[in-house]
Amino acid sequence: MQKLIIKGKKELSGKISISGSKNSTLPILAASILAKNVKIKNIPLVKDIFTMIELLNFIGLKTKLVKKKNFIEISNNNKNINTLAPYKLVKTMRAGVLVLGSLLSKYKKAKVSLPGGCAIGSRPVDLHLFALKKLGAKIKIKDGYILAEAKKGLKGTKIKFPSISVGATENALIAAFKAKGTTILKNCAIEPEIKDLISFLKKLGANIYLKGRTILIKESKIKSSKIIHQVIFDRIELGTYMIAGALLVKKNLIIDKIDPTIVKSEIDILKRIGVKIIQKKKSVIIKKSKKLKKINIITKPYPGFPTDLQAQFMVLLTQANGVSKIKENIFENRFMHVPELKRMGAQIQIKDKTALIKGPSKLAGAEVMATDLRASVSLVLAGLIAENRTVINRIYHLDRGYEFLESKLKNCKAAIKRV
Ligand code: UD1
Repeated sequence: MQKLIIKGKKELSGKISISGSKNSTLPILAASILAKNVKIKNIPLVKDIFTMIELLNFIGLKTKLVKKKNFIEISNNNKNINTLAPYKLVKTMRAGVLVLGSLLSKYKKAKVSLPGGCAIGSRPVDLHLFALKKLGAKIKIKDGYILAEAKKGLKGTKIKFPSISVGATENALIAAFKAKGTTILKNCAIEPEIKDLISFLKKLGANIYLKGRTILIKESKIKSSKIIHQVIFDRIELGTYMIAGALLVKKNLIIDKIDPTIVKSEIDILKRIGVKIIQKKKSVIIKKSKKLKKINIITKPYPGFPTDLQAQFMVLLTQANGVSKIKENIFENRFMHVPELKRMGAQIQIKDKTALIKGPSKLAGAEVMATDLRASVSLVLAGLIAENRTVINRIYHLDRGYEFLESKLKNCKAAIKRV
């Protein structure tokens, strides 16, 4: 099994270019089932994306991934489509459930494995099914599979989500494209990745209007011409490297290929902690900061503070003066990095949904275990500032979502290697 070995305390300098967003690419790939011919650019070469491509191939689409240029071409001229998403592909990547909306809307039926729970919480799909049922689908659960059918096609209607879900909003949006009449989705997630999906669907021919948390979709025809779409940058990867810079930049760490306006709340919080950041049009520069200050953070749907950066910010706050608080409001079990950080010397207490982080603490290298994608990268950040050597096990979690992690960090003078 592969491990990462990090020798801590090496100051960072240079430039990191941010990859395309994994969480944007996944629904766009799922929505490509609706299209005839698409080219998607700026896709990150990470495990979850490879799994989604495998799923598209299994369904019967033709895909051509050009790794050197980070793009994929997908065509769907197959008359013998397999409307099945099997357990073996959905179990490793929950986003597999996003093919439900496209299969149902295009082929009027789908059999998609239930993704099941995962390390950070139970993660049900009831909100996805709630929306599809409202659109007219008949849904049964049998032997661990969602069996969905809409013999006469889906029908537009008004749907108000009882709570905000990124995946359920995406599935409903994709399904509503071909639904008869007009669909109005209320209380939607409005993450930048959802906006990227909307811009892709518009290129495919969709009539979609977004206002506040409401999305209106009018029945539309899918264009048969080739569609080209460039995926947005990965704001979570950006947040992760901004924190790496805040923790141990030598003088300047430049992070580019981004749009800083999308991560306004994260930049504001970093500034309030005392991190020196210069914002440019398509990049940020992290400068050496003197003293970091405590802060209280609550994770919320966008534009609030993202749960996907909670673990990384916690590492930063181990170096801030005073007791900081982080309340995790999105997932019920997303503090699994805490025991590992404590083994490295962090002073963290969990009280219900809140972590209390006392700093500054000296961290020392240790052998630690990665538990999920974002928890894993928080251990990398901790390893970068710890004394001596940190060994991170189970790094396949990192490979699910961080493109070229070691080489990006090594280029900035970090001592990190995979064995
Ligand atoms: C997406 C992101 C993930 C991020 C999360 C929250 C992708 C591929 N993944 O996951 O990185 O951490 O948004 O920003 O984009 N819920 C239900 N019923 C449902 C669906 C969700 O109760 O049917 C709950 C979840 O358990 C969770 C909350 O709603 O507590 C938010 O989950 P959701 O926004 O759906 O997350 P994902 O789309 O799975």
